[in-house]
Amino acid sequence: MRTQVVIIGSGPSGLLLGQLLGNAGIDNVVLDRVAKNYILGRVRAGVLEEGTVGLLKDASADMRMREEGLPHDGFSLAFDGRDHRIDLFALTGKRVMVYGQTELTRDLMDRREATGGVSIYEATNVMPHDFGGGRPYVTYEKDGVTHRIDCDFIAGCDGYHGISRKSVPERSIATFERTYPFGWLGVLADVPPVSHELIYANHPRGFALCSMRSASRSRYYIQCPLDEKVENWSDDCFYDELRRRLPTTHAQALVVGPSFEKSIAPLRSFVAEPMRFGSLFLVGDAAHIVPPTGAKGLNLAASDVHYLFEGLRDHYLDHTQTALDAYSERALRRVWKSVRFSWSMTTLMHRFPEGGDFGQKIQEAELDYLTHSDAAARSLAENYVGLPY
Ligand code: APR
Ligand code: PHB
Repeated sequence: MRTQVVIIGSGPSGLLLGQLLGNAGIDNVVLDRVAKNYILGRVRAGVLEEGTVGLLKDASADMRMREEGLPHDGFSLAFDGRDHRIDLFALTGKRVMVYGQTELTRDLMDRREATGGVSIYEATNVMPHDFGGGRPYVTYEKDGVTHRIDCDFIAGCDGYHGISRKSVPERSIATFERTYPFGWLGVLADVPPVSHELIYANHPRGFALCSMRSASRSRYYIQCPLDEKVENWSDDCFYDELRRRLPTTHAQALVVGPSFEKSIAPLRSFVAEPMRFGSLFLVGDAAHIVPPTGAKGLNLAASDVHYLFEGLRDHYLDHTQTALDAYSERALRRVWKSVRFSWSMTTLMHRFPEGGDFGQKIQEAELDYLTHSDAAARSLAENYVGLPY
C-alpha cells in the first residue's frame, strides 16, 4: 500500500491531523494498536481552548460539541475557606469549552468514517522505518499477516508509550522530565456538578478539583499519595475527603452519588526535543506530557497538529517547505510555555510533602496576589484560555 502520510495513533492528535489532511485532499492512513472501543473507554480531561475548538471546526467535527459543550467564562480558585473567581472572559475576551476528550475522540472517529478515511485498528508491531532517508515506510501486523505502507511522511501521534519516539536513536533526542510526589484520585459520577464552573482548591490536606462533563455528570479529583490504592477509597470516603478540602458553601452543596469510574493518575512533566527526525514528526503526548492542572495536554496536542498540518499543507499544495522545516521549533516554543504553566499551577495548588508550613504560606501569598492583582490574574487567565498559535 502507498499513502502520503502514515499516522501512528488514533488518539485526538492522530484523528485531528488525519481529518485536517483529508479535508485538504492529502491522503493518509491511521494505525492504532488497540480497538476503537478501547480508545473510547479512556477517561481524560475535558477543557478546550478556543484554538482547539477552532481546529475541530476546521476538521468539520464540531457539530455535537457546539450543541453539548459547555462554554465557561471563568473558574474558581478556592483557598483559606473562600472562593475567588477568575473571570476569564473579562480578563482576556476568551472563554474555554468544557467537552470531554472521549466525546471529542468519538466525533473525530465518526467524521473519519463518514468521509471515508482509512483507519486500521488492532494493528500490532507497528514500526516506522527509514525516516532518516528518502523512502520512509511503516510496517504492521494484522491477523498474523505483515503489511507495509510506503509514504512521504510519518506522524508519530502514538502517545507517551508509543513506538515513534522510541524508534529514534537515543543520541538524536534530548528528554526533560519532572515527576511529582503525588497523584490524582478521580471519580466520574452522574450527579449535577457542585458549581456551574470549575473549582481548583488549595487546602492544607491537599489539592481538589471539581470539574464536570455535562450538567448532570461530574468529574471530581483529590490529590493523593503516589502509592495510594483505588480499592481503599469507597465513594463515601472520597466525597468526605473532597468536602473537607472545599469551602463550606460548596461542601454543603455537594450532591453525591455512585461513581462509575475511579482511578489514580500520576503527575509528570516531560518534553522530548526535537520533534522532527527526517520524515518522522512527533505530535502530542508522543513528544510531551504535562500534569493535568490547567488541562493543557489535549490542547497542546492540538497546537502541534496545527503546526504540522500547516507544514504538510504548504508542502503538498504550495510546494513550499518553510512551515514544515519550522515545525519542531514552532511547536516546542508553545510546548515549553504550556509546560511551564502546568508546572506552576501544579506547584501552586498542591501540598508538597517536603514543603511544610512555609510552602503552604508561600502558596497562600501567591493565591492572594493572583486574586487581588489584575496583572497577575490576567497572566493566569491568558495562559488558561491558551496562548496564541
Ligand atoms: N502502535 C500503534 N498505536 C499506538 C502504539 C503503537 N506502538 N502505541 C500507542 N498507540 C496508540 C494508542 O493506542 C492511542 O490510541 O496511540 C494513541 C495515542 O493516543 P493518546 O495517548 O490519546 O495521545 P494523543 O493523541 O497525543 O492525545 C493527546 O491529550 O489530554 C491529553 O494525555 C491526554 O491523550 C491525551 C492527549
Ligand atoms: C477534567 O475535567 O477532567 C479536568 C478539568 C480541568 C483540569 C484537569 C482535568 O485542569
